[in-house]
Amino acid sequence: MPQFHIYVTTNEVPAQALDLLRSSGTVKVYGGTAAPPRDVLLKEAAEADALFCILTEKVDAELLSKAPRLKVVANMAVGFDNIDLAEATKHGVLVTNTPEVLTETTADATFALILAAGRRIAEGDRLIRSGGWKLRWSPMMMVGHDVYGKTLGIYGLGRIGAAVARRAAGFGMNLVYYDSSRNKDLEEKLGVKYLPFDDLMRESDFLTVHVPLLPTTRKSLGEKQLGLMKKTAYVINTSRGQVIDEAALTQALRERRIAGAAIDVFENEPLGPESGLTKLENVVLTPHLASASIETRTEMAMMAARNLAAALKGEVPPNLVNKDVLAVRKAR
Ligand code: GLV
Repeated sequence: MPQFHIYVTTNEVPAQALDLLRSSGTVKVYGGTAAPPRDVLLKEAAEADALFCILTEKVDAELLSKAPRLKVVANMAVGFDNIDLAEATKHGVLVTNTPEVLTETTADATFALILAAGRRIAEGDRLIRSGGWKLRWSPMMMVGHDVYGKTLGIYGLGRIGAAVARRAAGFGMNLVYYDSSRNKDLEEKLGVKYLPFDDLMRESDFLTVHVPLLPTTRKSLGEKQLGLMKKTAYVINTSRGQVIDEAALTQALRERRIAGAAIDVFENEPLGPESGLTKLENVVLTPHLASASIETRTEMAMMAARNLAAALKGEVPPNLVNKDVLAVRKAR
């Protein structure tokens, strides 16, 4: 059996996933806590048969053209917008992701953000910690908006959007969605009504984003779309920051053209305190942690390791994203 070289770009892979990787080849783990510098990543990829990476690594045409041995990129994430799929396919490199395992965890976090935004939970916490709660209980202090009985607009009714819809049904919410293709089965099963995109903006009390980042979804929520929303509406995003025009969102929040937002993902991560968003009270900010439960992150690592191991064995990995790569490899 050939000795494969596996490069792992994070030192936070659980031991059982590392064991699995070690049974597939020699493993080198990047020791730093931030993402590997680009030159390090390029150098390591150039010698690797397999890359175990996370969403901070850009696997693009340059990297792929300099990695002649590379057979598989196992991304420990459901999203794979950090990888140039067409280029990977051209180079015969299998790309895998970690779907399903994080669906419910991400939907839980999304619902936490819906509640936190509508009911001003983080703001209330800040008020007490800063010694700002000086008066008695008062009738109109920090009043938010109800979640139950309101309209939840789901932008992207995939697995995570559907899991959020199931939770929202328990809160008696009215469910509407927009997606590039209609899913009549889910509409019936979940009691979700399809709306054209602009109508989704107009009707949502809470708009939650669950589309992947694609050329067609990049900045698809900009000034114009935000301008269609109710003044009492909230935007929730646990998908990818680049789906929203962050400057336009910041401005809409600052001018109170919408009531608030709860945002887990950003155009540029990590988001620093210099961001205009951090100056606003009407936004809840979390550091890209919607799938961050110990159970889910462990399973995501295992899944990525299983995908990588299968690819090195010459099998079709269970979560292959670029299926057309199989024909490219066969033709070689
Ligand atoms: C996290 O954002 C993921 O795509 O898994």
